[in-house]
Amino acid sequence: MRIDIITVLPELLDSPFSHSIVKRAREKGVVEIHTHQLRNFTPFKHGQIDDYPFGGGAGMVMMVEPLVNCIESLQKERKYDEVIFLTPDGETFDQPMANRLSTLKNILLICGHYKGIDDRVREHFVTKEISIGDYVLSGGELAAAVVCDSIVRLIPGSIGDEMSALTDSFQDNLLAPPVYTRPAEFRGWKVPDILLSGHQKNIENWRHQQSLERTQNRRPDLL
Ligand code: ADE
Repeated sequence: MRIDIITVLPELLDSPFSHSIVKRAREKGVVEIHTHQLRNFTPFKHGQIDDYPFGGGAGMVMMVEPLVNCIESLQKERKYDEVIFLTPDGETFDQPMANRLSTLKNILLICGHYKGIDDRVREHFVTKEISIGDYVLSGGELAAAVVCDSIVRLIPGSIGDEMSALTDSFQDNLLAPPVYTRPAEFRGWKVPDILLSGHQKNIENWRHQQSLERTQNRRPDLL
């Protein structure tokens, strides 16, 4: 899979893509992630990419021309399965969406700033709009990092234990069960006996029961 990201703050994305699973996936060639500095695509002086909104009002708007220059120069190189704009008024991101996106070959993400991007970009280029939750971030970069992280870990080859991503919370609309590791007892707090029993079938049943209870208590809307 290849992910291209248009941003005015590529440095903000360096760290999330340079650690842990995403780092290893990139090293293994499972995914390629490329950031593109939007300011390099503006015809205006001093790298200007935003301007005052027509009709007045607070805040600046990212201009159509630098964005279109950047998108079209990338589209000359390859066809994108989705051109995604990260925005609080997009469709709320969830596990099924991550699963679907992880099967695509090329995706292009656009990170907005200020009051948003000129709507003509959304109308003519964007194929999908994603929000990572009902709150407003300063820019789309952190949302892009969240979306990329959740997608990359699902691509076969990213995670050593292939089963691991399938047993994540939300994969079966249930929250994950509690987990424990050594020691079996700490300050008198004991790990549930069943997990030490070695009886795999009973352990699986217990975990499923715990998942159901957790989901019922914390996120009944998922059931
Ligand atoms: N940009 C600003 N806030 C955002 C959000 N909640 N989700 C996606 N992109 C955003």
